[in-house]
Amino acid sequence: MVRLVPIASGKGGVGKSVIAANLGLALARAGRAVVLVDLDLGGSNLHTFLGVKNKNPGIGALAWKRERSLDGLLVETGYERLWLVPGDGLLPGTANIDWFTKKRILKELSSLPADFAILDLGAGSSFNVVDFFLASSEGVLVVRPEITSVLNAYAFLKTAAFRALSRSFPEKSLGRAAVNGFAAVKNEGSGLSFLDFASELAGKFPEGQAALKRLSELRPRAIMNMSRDPGDADLGTRLHDIVVKNLGISIEFAGYLPDLPAVPASVASRRLLFDSDPSSEFSQGIQAAAAKLAAPPVSLALALHDADG
Ligand SMILES: Nc1ncnc2c1ncn2[C@@H]1O[C@H](COP(=O)(O)OP(=O)(O)OP(=O)(O)O)[C@@H](O)[C@H]1O
Ligand SMILES: [Mg+2]
Repeated sequence: MVRLVPIASGKGGVGKSVIAANLGLALARAGRAVVLVDLDLGGSNLHTFLGVKNKNPGIGALAWKRERSLDGLLVETGYERLWLVPGDGLLPGTANIDWFTKKRILKELSSLPADFAILDLGAGSSFNVVDFFLASSEGVLVVRPEITSVLNAYAFLKTAAFRALSRSFPEKSLGRAAVNGFAAVKNEGSGLSFLDFASELAGKFPEGQAALKRLSELRPRAIMNMSRDPGDADLGTRLHDIVVKNLGISIEFAGYLPDLPAVPASVASRRLLFDSDPSSEFSQGIQAAAAKLAAPPVSLALALHDADG
């Protein structure tokens, strides 16, 4: 069965697409069949990193029902065992898709004939992004070693935790209404913490215990990109600590990638750095992250309920 690896970030321009493409190649070179999926709807550009022309239909065609399945949308990248499903570059207007369209896309993704599907997501915490991030219990969050990026990453995970908790209760249930009501009024630092609230729910509603269990299955990974200083790891530790303390979620760092001029140079030349310079410190970091992501425990599907919209 295909393993979905969503790649998200709280803030744009942190290196999600570069990392997605190079991670995909690292896994393909390790013998795995990999599909890179451009799910940055409204901002699709993953083809550029691979040197693939923007002339193929992709997720946009699926969203607009011009294509029924992903099979006809796989594009060769020129790298062995690595395919691309482009985004919506040819059919814009898919940035705000509804839940049922997302569900259809997710169903197609989970039947892709590959070992890994790496999902390059848009920036930020919109439900479109968060719902694709929750397609796996082990989504990857890219952060930069700056306090703003770390806080954005925390905000992203908080939104993801609320969405997972809400979707752990069936649609139209009182439990879900309670989660959505709490999320709407909750201000940081006031009243009940997210964790206390989640535990309280467990006692109040019949599905509460199962919901708490779902939440505890979330195991996001983080990658710190554009690191310039070994001290940047401290920021990673801080992110880890606030996520554990406030959200009760454990987050593991899957890699630290250096800030190198060779990275934008590789983007400009439309050839992946992992291909042109496998010994570069960036490529080595990608290799280590790929090994971590490929290792067991096998990512779990979270078995969440449908969203409201
Ligand atoms: N480790 C790195 N060192 C130097 N430059 C980098 C590194 N990683 C990414 N970049 C540069 O940062 C820019 C943004 O990268 P990328 O497009 O992958 O980010 P993104 O998170 O996908 O952005 P968006 O949110 O807009 O989709 C690119 O020009 C890329 O070359
Ligand atoms: Mg991108």
